Amino acid sequence: MLAVHFDNPGGPENLYIKEVPTPKPGKGEILLKVTASALNRADLLQRQGQYSPPPGASNILGLEASGHVAELGPGCQGSWKIGDAAMALMPGGGQAQYVTVPEGFLMPVPEGLSLAEAAAVPEAWLTAFQLLNCVGKVKEGETVLIHAGTGGVGTAAIQLTRMFKAVPLVTTSPQDKIEMAKKLGAEAGFDYKKDDFSEGALKLTQGVGVNVILDCIGGSYWEKNINCLAPDGRWVLYGLMGGAEVNGPLLSKLLTKRATLQASLLRSRDKKYKEGLVKTFTEKAIPHFSPGGPIQLKPVVDNIFPLADVQKAHERMEANLNVGKIILEMP
Ligand SMILES: NC(=O)c1ccc[n+]([C@@H]2O[C@H](COP(=O)([O-])OP(=O)(O)OC[C@H]3O[C@@H](n4cnc5c(N)ncnc54)[C@H](OP(=O)(O)O)[C@@H]3O)[C@@H](O)[C@H]2O)c1
Repeated sequence: MLAVHFDNPGGPENLYIKEVPTPKPGKGEILLKVTASALNRADLLQRQGQYSPPPGASNILGLEASGHVAELGPGCQGSWKIGDAAMALMPGGGQAQYVTVPEGFLMPVPEGLSLAEAAAVPEAWLTAFQLLNCVGKVKEGETVLIHAGTGGVGTAAIQLTRMFKAVPLVTTSPQDKIEMAKKLGAEAGFDYKKDDFSEGALKLTQGVGVNVILDCIGGSYWEKNINCLAPDGRWVLYGLMGGAEVNGPLLSKLLTKRATLQASLLRSRDKKYKEGLVKTFTEKAIPHFSPGGPIQLKPVVDNIFPLADVQKAHERMEANLNVGKIILEMP
């Protein structure tokens, strides 16, 4: 089969498509014939040699894919049959013509979504759902500040925050991205390159602050985050795009606000946790992707690249140009 490959860590120019052996599904695994996969920042970091796949995971890039069930490994429970359309979360291996996945990581493709759109769902939506529901424990009426609000996770988090009957605010730049976030349901957006988002968030909440922050930026935002967090607020750290250094009285500020700072990483979670998350998401969120309901969820697709253009796809994400997800279609 064909797969995205690199021999040495480095820039996007190191990526190429290589013929590699097709994996065989092990016990309880399904072989998925991949139609589309999506790009994640983790792929960029892995390509740069800064993020190794967890033990036992494929070295091939790709944390998510959509396609059709091609083979069932021994001991599968019978929930899936050959030819079923599915989308799946995976710790690696998605950017290839075939990938093996534990059967509990597969989800049905919601009615009305193409397979390219379905590839945009697993990693970003399960992450956003987990951060809001399991980690941040967002409640009805609360305010949620979502950083990188027009990224893959951000565009999912805006919609899920509304599903949980809470109020999403975003940071992004420039203004046209703020308008896109508002179309997805954001109450307001702050251009972090021009303005102090913490002042904007405090003003909008009449000085109270936000109850939950979904933070994939880290270091460069720490002071503004704690300034605009409400008392007893939950600050959920899940990325470090703005660095890992904190220089200042973070601990005293956390203490004063009785705040919780919690970090979350989905990729390294164990199989049981991921299966539980997939099951809850399938029950609570997937029905809302189909047309006609009172809540309407929609994956945001930025661009679709053929697999052969994987270098261009990486360059686009690295330049922060994407709104929503970048999709790779298999040959
Ligand atoms: N912990 C987990 O389980 C988990 C799971 C999935 C993703 N993640 C992490 O979450 C982050 C977001 O993922 P994603 O898929 O949404 O990425 P994405 O679609 O590529 O969006 C990222 C956006 O963040 C903004 N950004 C980049 N660098 C920034 C900086 N230094 N300061 C402020 N904004 C910056 C850019 O948008 P604008 O500048 O236009 O706003 C960029 O487009 C990544 O770091 C990823 O690794 C973590």
